[in-house]
Amino acid sequence: MTRVANHAPWQPEHVVDVRDAAFAARTYLEQRAVRDLLAAALGGARVRAAAEVGAGYGRMTPVLTEFANRVVGFEREPHFVADASRLWPAITFTQVASLESLPVESSSFDLVLTFTVLQHLIDPVARRAAAEMTRVLAPRGHLLICEETDPAHTDGATTDPAGRCTIGRPVTVYQELFASLDLLTTRPREIEPTYPRPDVGTYMLFRKGA
Ligand SMILES: C[S@@+](CC[C@H](N)C(=O)[O-])C[C@H]1O[C@@H](n2cnc3c(N)ncnc32)[C@H](O)[C@@H]1O
Repeated sequence: MTRVANHAPWQPEHVVDVRDAAFAARTYLEQRAVRDLLAAALGGARVRAAAEVGAGYGRMTPVLTEFANRVVGFEREPHFVADASRLWPAITFTQVASLESLPVESSSFDLVLTFTVLQHLIDPVARRAAAEMTRVLAPRGHLLICEETDPAHTDGATTDPAGRCTIGRPVTVYQELFASLDLLTTRPREIEPTYPRPDVGTYMLFRKGA
């Protein structure tokens, strides 16, 4: 196991902030949106390899198996990696010390998903993680991210690399973070209607050039 520097460890209640029926509804809506966006992007083609960066306990990762022959999830928390590996034995979950350095060659993946992860990284860490996602994405590959995009939804330890925070960054900031990629489309993130606020972020689909 890769040793992780001291930080506020993430637990299941930090991954999704509702339980039971609302959890099931949210996960269904989110998996469906990821599936729709990837199906439209790939036009029925199946790709060689896909990765989820910041996979948590594998809530979204299985959707990638519908599109890719090989799927890898990278995650910092060892207990999430252990849970995900037990639940999804056909997917390789790899524990990493940080999302800024993934233990794979450049251009390893045709598809990269990151779902509500960059919003929890402070600015310098988000910059380096975005650069790393770009590095591991193959030419003509797709990157799908889903993040809070309203700056009003910012709270927590926004400058402490060991803390826990949420940072709402506008889509234009994500375009800068992934400046070498083309933004193909955006779509509002939809979750269960009982959640107290309607704007919960944006899906952003990028493509790398040839
Ligand atoms: C909101 S959860 C999303 C997990 C998964 N993508 C999902 O949608 O279920 C955020 C994930 O980012 C990881 N994470 C948060 N801050 C991190 C950091 N500074 N470095 C690496 N991973 C981090 C957490 O361990 C967690 O798995």
